[in-house]
Amino acid sequence: MTSATTPASPPPRRVHGTTPRPDDHVIVMFGATGDLARRKLLPGLFRLAVAGLMPERYQIIGSARRGLTGEQFREHARQAAAEFGTVKPEGDAWDAFARRLSFASAQPGNTESLAAAVGRAEREIGGPLGRLCHLAVPPAAFESTLATLSAAGLAAGSRVIIEKPFGTDLASARELNQKVHALFGEPQVFRIDHFLGKESVGNILAFRFANGLFEPVWNRNHIAYVQIDVPETLSIEGRAEFYDHTGAYRDMIVTHLFQVLGFVAMEPPTSLDARHLRDETAKVFDAVRPIDIAHVVRGQYAGYTGEPGVAEGSGTETMAAVRAEIDNWRWAGVPFLLRSGKRLAASRQVITLGFHQPPLRMFPVRRDAVQAGRRNEIVIDFADPGSITTSFLAKEPGATMRLGTAELTFRYADSFGAVGLEGYERLLLDAMLGDQSLFTSADAIERLWEISAPLLEHPPPVQPYAPGSWGPQPALDHLVAPYHWHLS
Ligand code: BG6
Repeated sequence: MTSATTPASPPPRRVHGTTPRPDDHVIVMFGATGDLARRKLLPGLFRLAVAGLMPERYQIIGSARRGLTGEQFREHARQAAAEFGTVKPEGDAWDAFARRLSFASAQPGNTESLAAAVGRAEREIGGPLGRLCHLAVPPAAFESTLATLSAAGLAAGSRVIIEKPFGTDLASARELNQKVHALFGEPQVFRIDHFLGKESVGNILAFRFANGLFEPVWNRNHIAYVQIDVPETLSIEGRAEFYDHTGAYRDMIVTHLFQVLGFVAMEPPTSLDARHLRDETAKVFDAVRPIDIAHVVRGQYAGYTGEPGVAEGSGTETMAAVRAEIDNWRWAGVPFLLRSGKRLAASRQVITLGFHQPPLRMFPVRRDAVQAGRRNEIVIDFADPGSITTSFLAKEPGATMRLGTAELTFRYADSFGAVGLEGYERLLLDAMLGDQSLFTSADAIERLWEISAPLLEHPPPVQPYAPGSWGPQPALDHLVAPYHWHLS
């Protein structure tokens, strides 16, 4: 097909601090009838439209193997926005958005109607425009969807968003990168991790690099340990087909928690441009030691193997905790503890930086007021809307010098009121703008699989834990010793 799209590279230079509006676009959403599209993408695009952040002229073409009429797809999108969106699908705003939605089924060997729908949409919009293809499909369908996209003539000039997990190990990630690069140059490829689109994760950069207060202590001389802890109360929620082949390590630790570690641990980038940010993250990943399986805990909640769709006797972990080490001057010797799992005691997304104690203990501390020792911590809660708390010791009122714990807290909601964009919303906008800062590069993803190899090749056996607990003990306490988990 002929394409009216502008080339996807070089990406525009983004002026930070301004509210950007992308150029006119056609968005092709593969997997448009799936769970991700329903929960995040369709409600998220509508939210961007209401916020005035969609292009002036755009069309969204849903695609999937099964056929829907345009009317059915619009109704599907309306229900998705009603159930999962922050903005209700009603009135003129919804009507204007719905008019831009259409549907074309496609699969390898049958791509004519999709190609025709894209051609039609591009002619209707007219002029130079961008084309964004989103592969919102399970990993097992990445390759066939790439084949469909290519057969429909959509690769040239498009940007492509690829969902996680990107591969299941180093060999498969390399193979997938080769297949992707056969169709797209790296500047066209947006490997998505929605954690990097979260306000509070982006704020780590501001917290560290916009203030003279924190960065000077952000190193091994002052910080004793870092925890990135993402427990979930959710079960696998009917996703056995995906989850039983994936497990907590691939689903969360490689995909999300290591990316957050990249932001916590990076050196100051030269600028916030994609190249500089991605270079610094890549340097962190290069310095992470291959995972030592002596420092890994894999857990499985009791009852998991009875979930519909889970293989009998499955050894898949529903909780994983690892102690990572970064061999560079800033972090040598500081354990980074990463934990995530399903059916745990709470749903939280928390980074904790624990500080060394002062060299002399001259103050009596009330033991009951100071859980697990005398802790100075910075706690970044990155679940939307997010907060940052520093905890320290303070003199209790009274004639004697006795100490208790005190806290200083910043809450987004209190300081700024306005709710920011959700992770997916922010990243969809960035992809339309061609800004790769918050997307993972091919090298970075391959390096994460490389350091994961010892664990993937020789996984320690899963240990059972009770649903609603914090995971298998005493293994988790041994992993974090001599420190303590901030949560639990
Ligand atoms: C997804 C995982 O990527 O992230 C899920 O596949 C997990 O298992 C989810 O529950 C958590 O993300 P959030 O930010 O939506 O809570």
